[in-house]
Amino acid sequence: SASDKGGWSSFMAKEVSEQPDAVANTLRGRIAGTTVVVPELAAFGDDALRDIRRIVIVACGTASYAGQVGKYAIEKWTRIPVDVELSHEFRYRDPVLTADTLVISISQSGETMDTLMAVKYAREAGARAISICNTQGATIPRESDAVIYTHAGPEVAVASTKAFVAQITALYLFALHLARVRGSLSEAEQAEQVAELQGIPEKIATTLLQEPTVRELANWMSDTRAVLFLGRHVGFPIALEGALKLKELAYIHAEGFAAGELKHGPIALIEPGQPVFVVVPSPRGSAHLHPKVVSNIQEIRARGARIIAIAEEGDVAVLPFADTVIRIPLAAPLFEPLLAVVPLQIFAMALATAKGLDVDQPRNLAKSVTVE
Ligand code: G6P
Repeated sequence: SASDKGGWSSFMAKEVSEQPDAVANTLRGRIAGTTVVVPELAAFGDDALRDIRRIVIVACGTASYAGQVGKYAIEKWTRIPVDVELSHEFRYRDPVLTADTLVISISQSGETMDTLMAVKYAREAGARAISICNTQGATIPRESDAVIYTHAGPEVAVASTKAFVAQITALYLFALHLARVRGSLSEAEQAEQVAELQGIPEKIATTLLQEPTVRELANWMSDTRAVLFLGRHVGFPIALEGALKLKELAYIHAEGFAAGELKHGPIALIEPGQPVFVVVPSPRGSAHLHPKVVSNIQEIRARGARIIAIAEEGDVAVLPFADTVIRIPLAAPLFEPLLAVVPLQIFAMALATAKGLDVDQPRNLAKSVTVE
């Protein structure tokens, strides 16, 4: 059955390994040739999609980081401004909501009370709501105008993994559907993104092969007291997610930063031996950002940081400065998060295991928080 560990050491290990399928199943039935058609959005109507002037994404925890990744793609492809807000902050600050505001909630369980209340609040204020959810018939989709289900399959481990990559996939499908309806991307540009999406499952499978390197790293880092994560552009929310995973599973103080912010404060934290994961943008796809992140790496290396670089295959610029390099396959910049997150999930899981902790049931946490 789906709630069986099936030979894996934990549900989380099983769910991490299921990520290629989580993405492939979420894509299924939503790609027509070289364009995206999400059938569930018919309920919403093309005219309503064309009328949207602003998008607000509401979510908590890992789902909120999927939202932050989604913001980059939605704005890039549709030119509609997107804000991402934690559900529990959104509702209590008298946010501006109008009939042309679309609220997209993201929730694996579809039962998170904070997010449910944010959706209800937004609809009462006149906004329309779309739910991205992994649980058929859950409360949040029932309270929304339309739902795009992620088909990651049941997620049992408390820390979200396969639901996260499925959420990003669903957001990208939504963005490409919207771009088609609004005519904001050419057919060739749509085809390019569709091809990238279709390549992701296999690239995640390739990324999973980095597991032995990541495990070894986690084993010798099992005494580590603090870990920093840096990323830029879509790598920034991945840094935040890497830090969250480590807090949740290994109870280690971890923080994610935007690499460009380093010089505005966080660099003061760097002392000899401080481990820092850096999600390195592609030297090809992000030619303008790559050298900036490499120079961030040099700056912190010079102050004694231990660098663990998550870098694209063939990126040799990081080699002289990284203590460990974890490779991810080539992908267009917006798609890198779907790959870069994988070693961070494995790292947190392996470190927790090395510390003898229960990775499926971390202390103090619940899979679904149904109270405010
Ligand atoms: C809880 C879980 C997190 C999850 C968050 C949002 O805090 O421990 O792993 O990211 O809820 O859950 P949802 O079901 O709304 O995605």
